[in-house]
Amino acid sequence: MIVLIGFMGAGKSTVGARLAARLDLDFVDSDIVLARRLGCTIAEYFAAQGEAAFRAVEQETITGLLRGPDVVLALGGGALGSAAVRAGIAGHDVVYLDASLPQILARVGADPARPLLATGDVGELYAGRLPTYAQAATVRVDADGDLDAVTQAILDALTVRGATSRAAQDTAAATAPPAPDTPDQEAASPEPERAPDTSPRAVFVGPPGAGTSTVGRLVAQRLGLPWCDVDDLLAAQAGKSPGEVLVDDGEQEYRRAERAAARRALVRPGIVVLGGGAVMNDEIAQALGDLAVVFLDVTIAHAAPRVGFDGNPGLVVLHPRRVWTMQMARRRPRYLQVATWTVDTGGRDADDVATHVAQLLQAGRA
Ligand code: S3P
Repeated sequence: MIVLIGFMGAGKSTVGARLAARLDLDFVDSDIVLARRLGCTIAEYFAAQGEAAFRAVEQETITGLLRGPDVVLALGGGALGSAAVRAGIAGHDVVYLDASLPQILARVGADPARPLLATGDVGELYAGRLPTYAQAATVRVDADGDLDAVTQAILDALTVRGATSRAAQDTAAATAPPAPDTPDQEAASPEPERAPDTSPRAVFVGPPGAGTSTVGRLVAQRLGLPWCDVDDLLAAQAGKSPGEVLVDDGEQEYRRAERAAARRALVRPGIVVLGGGAVMNDEIAQALGDLAVVFLDVTIAHAAPRVGFDGNPGLVVLHPRRVWTMQMARRRPRYLQVATWTVDTGGRDADDVATHVAQLLQAGRA
């Protein structure tokens, strides 16, 4: 789910509707759902029942929406005052529309539908809420300018490039991905370049036993970069391990959670490590299109002792070698398609591989 937050007048409703149209998702404005539920306008409810009563219904309504289907959801400007709402948005893509107070007053300063603009000191309210918005956000965009440009900035930050509708996504998925030796292939495309601090420096892919987590962490340490393992994000979001999500909630839910976690990870700087099957998801594979991707290649002979199939078989319990080999046969072409660099890890320890990859990344940046 994509949740839009920010002060009144930041443009959440306008941008939310445009964003949803671009992504072919439904748009839900919590204020509209609330007004329907209250049976009157928000201003009327405020006047009759007071703010505390309004906040209680608002919290219940929004936490319900957050448990619902995947949509673009705009929250009322005061909704993050509720700890339950703050907890409910954790794990979603939370986009903070950061508009300045003069811009906000110019947009909605005289709007009678917004009761809080008429009372007290708006400047104080604004200043008091900003840290909460900033803290809750996974993406922050300057929302003072043209709202079409704001919508585009969000799309870029969410790395849904080329996926402005499901139809476009399907078309793009059917076209050939970039060849491994042409990482700059998209340089001539009209797509805007992503801001440097919202792109990973490198993304690691590979099967179980390739060493993606170990090597990814070592490379991050050597280059002084932050690092993020998508499996950890998925686990934090689900409150249980990726394996448990798969077994308890089924493959479809697992893939949805994996896609959501990857979407969040792929706008982070530093080193990002994807789970072994993530590249088979077309949206994730597409998002890798213009990133530096390191495929750690390995054969079953070298992977088996690393994974410890004999001592701890994990998910591939019955025929671990056969399952690994079948999965690798399906996935290897995809790894090769998305890879900027392919590194053979057979017979090398993690330190050795990390040194090699760190050199590749440094050379590739020139
Ligand atoms: C409020 C913002 C409004 C609405 C209500 C209270 C606030 O939503 O929920 O008037 O406390 O900031 P918008 O942010 O959509 O204007």
